[in-house]
Amino acid sequence: MQTKDHWENLYVKKGEKSVSWFQQHALTSLEIIRRTTASKSARIVDVGGGASTLVDDLLGEGYRELTVLDISAAALHASKLRLGGNGDRVNWIEADITEAVLPARHYDVWHDRAVFHFLTDPEARHKYVEAVLHAVKPGGQVIVATFGPNGPLRCSGLPTVRYSPESLHDEFGERFLLIEHKEEAHVTPSGAVQQFIYCYCRKQDA
Ligand SMILES: C[S@@+](CC[C@H](N)C(=O)[O-])C[C@H]1O[C@@H](n2cnc3c(N)ncnc32)[C@H](O)[C@@H]1O
Repeated sequence: MQTKDHWENLYVKKGEKSVSWFQQHALTSLEIIRRTTASKSARIVDVGGGASTLVDDLLGEGYRELTVLDISAAALHASKLRLGGNGDRVNWIEADITEAVLPARHYDVWHDRAVFHFLTDPEARHKYVEAVLHAVKPGGQVIVATFGPNGPLRCSGLPTVRYSPESLHDEFGERFLLIEHKEEAHVTPSGAVQQFIYCYCRKQDA
């Protein structure tokens, strides 16, 4: 099955609140964005944002230049329905991040929770990092959360790659300065605990 069909099926069959990665609020992501991004006009993209409520909470806090990109139309539809009229204030992009055509040096903040770790093919990871280098402004913030060294080896029927903060930073390379990292124990709707790491980097000038 193609990657897109896989994700579409998951959202349609399970619903946005029963998927294993569901969070009522993306508290760790919100805390990092709040602390690092003072300007409410900062351009923020949530890559593989799916049906996450991060966009609701960012809108609620006054951020007004928000983009949610996801490969799944069903996930984006769920978020739009939930947001009602506020959904018109968000830029929605249905695309595979390894193929997406994004504007150059455009985003102040790139956020990804639980997408990069599904890229098991080195070529796909290379394309992803190229997309970050292309689309994030010099000096922009890059927040990426993946399964940690003790996280699951598979999720939702797909294999994953587990990272330490150092090995995740290695994937991105010297053009990114690792500012800080955090660990989180995510409790899934069925009660399983998954280790996540969040890395917050700055894209160096150049
Ligand atoms: C585990 S979910 C995480 C969703 C969201 N970030 C959150 O924390 O609730 C992974 C998301 O990435 C999307 N996705 C998977 N592969 C992708 C790709 N190559 N490009 C864009 N989105 C992708 C899926 O549709 C799904 O919404």
